[in-house]
Amino acid sequence: MADAENDGPTGIGRGLTNYGDPDFAIYLRRSFARSMGYSNDMLAKPIIGIAYTPSGFNNCHRHFPELLEAVKRGVIAAGGLPLEFPTISLGEVFLNPTSLMFRNLMAMDAEEMIRAQPMDAVVLMGGCDKTVPALLMGAASANIPAVQLVAGPMMTSRHEGERLGACTDCRRFWAQYRAGNVDEPGIRKVEGRLATTAGTCAVMGTASTMACLAEALGMSLPGTAAIPAVHADRLRAAEATGEEAMRLAASRLTPDAIITRASVENALRVLLALGGSTNAIIHLTAVAGRLGIGIPLTWLNELSDTTPVLVNLKPTGAHYMEDFFAAGGMGAVLRELKPLLNLGCMTVTGETLGERLAAEEGGWVDRDVISALADPMEPVGGLVALFGSLAPGGAILKRSAADHTLFEREGRAVVFASLADLSARIDDPGLDVAADDFLVLQNAGPKSGSGMPEAGYLPIPSRLARAGVKDMVRISDARMSGTAFGTIVLHVTPEAAVGGPLGLVRDGDRIRLSVKNHTIDLLVDEAEMKKRAATAPAIAPQPARGYAKLYMDTVLQADEGCDFDFLRAAK
Ligand code: FES
Repeated sequence: MADAENDGPTGIGRGLTNYGDPDFAIYLRRSFARSMGYSNDMLAKPIIGIAYTPSGFNNCHRHFPELLEAVKRGVIAAGGLPLEFPTISLGEVFLNPTSLMFRNLMAMDAEEMIRAQPMDAVVLMGGCDKTVPALLMGAASANIPAVQLVAGPMMTSRHEGERLGACTDCRRFWAQYRAGNVDEPGIRKVEGRLATTAGTCAVMGTASTMACLAEALGMSLPGTAAIPAVHADRLRAAEATGEEAMRLAASRLTPDAIITRASVENALRVLLALGGSTNAIIHLTAVAGRLGIGIPLTWLNELSDTTPVLVNLKPTGAHYMEDFFAAGGMGAVLRELKPLLNLGCMTVTGETLGERLAAEEGGWVDRDVISALADPMEPVGGLVALFGSLAPGGAILKRSAADHTLFEREGRAVVFASLADLSARIDDPGLDVAADDFLVLQNAGPKSGSGMPEAGYLPIPSRLARAGVKDMVRISDARMSGTAFGTIVLHVTPEAAVGGPLGLVRDGDRIRLSVKNHTIDLLVDEAEMKKRAATAPAIAPQPARGYAKLYMDTVLQADEGCDFDFLRAAK
């Protein structure tokens, strides 16, 4: 578990700046640290780094100053010196082209700053969608003792007697606006009421899913994933996390002892039982890949067929994260899943998952929100991987958020060659499209130049939306927001931009979907596919410099977590 670096000097003496004279280096470091007002007594204590990610461009982290104070209080009370340091912050809706494109940059920043600065353990403060996976990826690669503290979800708001929470309701009202059922002043009112407190999106979207997976992996304190951002318990959790970091600094329990194949399997079970975000499979694959653990999509399917959905939360169900917290939160879910989990997995507290659950036996559960294993919401897991001639490397469908009547279907393809083509034509009154067609979006994958946007939730063409059509089969190499819903086939691999069959689909082709058989097939013969491949347009110009070039040259496909090839652990 502890590597050579973890066995060396501790505190301020770790990882000295290289001047060719270690005595000079520690003298100079102490001198400069004292310039910040620290006494020699403080500088002799274990140092807890705090990866700190507030930003004027990140609404979800706006309470972090108060949370930081609580973490520091916990560290100091336990006899350590807390030192926060900034990393890149990714506010989901403020980034162009997408936050996913910068997740790996944040992960590299976190990894290198954790490794380069003298800290005995690190608290990872994240929350908004990509920040938690980025911090876990970085911490897993740096492999010093680390504990995750999440932002916590937003509280819901009210609009004309109805509860509102980002961002399932964002989409629901937008769909009503597109269908002509909500007018312009109405949608502006809703806009001001969707996100009204600090914290991450109020439903089981990507941020909440990743918060729950961090706890399921054993990387955050028990019971902390779902505490609302503005609840006093969130501050108490922050204080306790600071204290826990001090225990980790002493025990030198490193992420590789916590994130193992067995704990990754637990996290996958939890993802499936939550009906969690499709993005989480990409992120979990990236985190696990940093420690040499692969997540083949066939494994996801094996687990999905034996893990029921237990949680009745939007976007698949009725409730919000604050209800999940009050209903028993992750402790209740883990207790229900107990017979399916690997209970010997170690957690940041030094206890195994089994020991944690034994101590929580008999805890309160609200069955409206968290079902019993014997009486689940759905008998099988929320996500399923599909394979076939359209997706030889796999694709993902969130079956718990989809219309089951569309699961065994053959349909006619209506193809959009790019995001620009989609936005130019989707509402064209002359578009040849019917409710039982399959909408296909090409060139929105990791290497498309668009940063694999959350565009897989293609809008229902407004002519059909106005006629009352609520769902259609939609297929793409894009992603989908964790807060969205619909019969949406995502992450088609290989993507169109690298020559995948998705790029060769033409208007009028027939596509067959079978969720029962886990298949998605393009019903076009091989000779015709070869002919289309030979005349496929040349790949778009590639970026010549900077991070965009690094990204384009090295990003992996969705089934490998969209990490950079050189950042995954050597196999
Ligand atoms: Fe930050 Fe949704 S915008 S979690």
